[in-house]
Amino acid sequence: MTIKNICCIGAGYVGGPTMAVIAQKNPHIKVTIVDINAARIAAWNDADLTKLPVYEPGLAAIVGATRGKNLFFSTDIDQAIDAADMIFISVNTPTKTYGKGKGQAADLKYIELCARNIAKVATTDKIVVEKSTLPVRTAEAIKSILHNTGNGINFHILSNPEFLAEGTAVDDLLQPDRVLIGGENEAAINSLATVYASWVPQARILKTNLWSSELSKLTANAFLAQRVSSINAISELCELTGANVDEVAKAIGTDSRIGPKFLKASVGFGGSCFQKDILNLVYIARSYNLHEVANYWEQVIIMNDHQKRRFADRLIKTLYNTVSGKKIAVLGWAFKKDTNDTRESAAIYVTDHLLNEQAHIAVHDPKVPAEKVYTDLNYLNTRTEAENQNNVAVYTNAYDAVKDAHAIAIMTEWDAFKTLDWEAVYSTMQKPAFIFDGRNILDKHTMEAIGFEYHAIGQ
Ligand code: NAD
Ligand code: UDX
Repeated sequence: MTIKNICCIGAGYVGGPTMAVIAQKNPHIKVTIVDINAARIAAWNDADLTKLPVYEPGLAAIVGATRGKNLFFSTDIDQAIDAADMIFISVNTPTKTYGKGKGQAADLKYIELCARNIAKVATTDKIVVEKSTLPVRTAEAIKSILHNTGNGINFHILSNPEFLAEGTAVDDLLQPDRVLIGGENEAAINSLATVYASWVPQARILKTNLWSSELSKLTANAFLAQRVSSINAISELCELTGANVDEVAKAIGTDSRIGPKFLKASVGFGGSCFQKDILNLVYIARSYNLHEVANYWEQVIIMNDHQKRRFADRLIKTLYNTVSGKKIAVLGWAFKKDTNDTRESAAIYVTDHLLNEQAHIAVHDPKVPAEKVYTDLNYLNTRTEAENQNNVAVYTNAYDAVKDAHAIAIMTEWDAFKTLDWEAVYSTMQKPAFIFDGRNILDKHTMEAIGFEYHAIGQ
């Protein structure tokens, strides 16, 4: 089937960038992204491209070039579903917060709602593409819902997980290592492959069965996160032995069998995917009674939680065992640089721990607004909203955040932090002036020459 009209349900960090690139590379296809969140759709339609709801380098230019031509953002979900030949489901699949599997299993209620909606409004044959990250065998449930509509429409289900990383989404989409398509119907698989073939070399378009494709996504994220937890585990040993974790990472990463990527020790990984997807993998393994498998992967999360806690504890211990009443500047709130996304950011948990110790927190992030910082802290429910408001200040300028601070905690590796005027920063801080570099972005010798007491991860 030649695809002329695509609908994507879910205008988030995946749906927005992915569809913008598909539209840019396929000017002959009309792409409509729909969402139940009217404010988000309005932001995607904002004439001011700096107000798009997702910040990604290069994205605004692509949206600017395609929006209103063959890329559309709408809240009219039913109309877009019915008009489409191919429907991507790109809605959120968060960890369940209630009932069976609470805290581990993926919450599939939004996926099921999409499937039911498609079943209800479709009047022509559709290819339905799972773009969201899903537990293995979810396609079975979607198929069952779609095939029981009784209106004689043919649905083909494909799995096409997304491997983009935030902060580099546009580059990742333009030059993917691979595109993965899982399915049962060859014609449907080829229809989707043709959409990608507009810019992705054929050799990079992998075709598998449905279940391999679904499971590959969880597995890829588990392997990547495992590398970060592995190097973070070594960082703790480095701190006690005089080894330097960045030197160790370089030494092992030059082994071509290991490779250099995802070996950067840090305050702990964040983001909406790693923790959620590993917890889901653990849940699936347990549901098949594979307890050793589940325990093995769960350790990646346990190590990550330990790393975040250990960072906060080290800061408190170094500040003479108390941060009560002291101003601590938190530089960076996003879970990594070049994104405005804060989901599961280590900054949230480190700040929460410091607030428990009665610290006064001053936050600065180049892309995260104050409301988001408060929402993230309030969501934890550790203390009242008023207490968070009173003990956390958010600054649009890094120099205001660090003024009179006892310590700086670097939580995100924003390039702008590397080039701050650190001598000026030092002069305005309380002495001794401490830096806890959770991303190892600054040079220890330079910082010590200025006068700082500098503490990095794994050094
Ligand atoms: P998101 O929360 O940014 O966006 C999801 C959007 O779906 C929201 O705007 C929400 O309003 C909308 N939505 C939910 N239910 C809906 C419904 N029934 N009808 C219409 N709209 C609905 O999420 P995201 O980060 O884009 O992630 C989406 C999926 O992609 C998840 O399964 C995630 O695991 C996966 N994924 C995410 C990333 C990433 O980097 N964020 C990368 C790869 C895969
Ligand atoms: C991840 C996967 O990389 C991507 O393929 C998938 O589609 C979605 O999940 P994302 O979470 O956006 O992408 O960013 P990623 O670059 O993987 O970083 C995740 C977290 O790990 C961040 O907090 C990052 O700072 C941290 N990290 C990453 C490290 O601490 N050290 C590293 O070496 C790499």
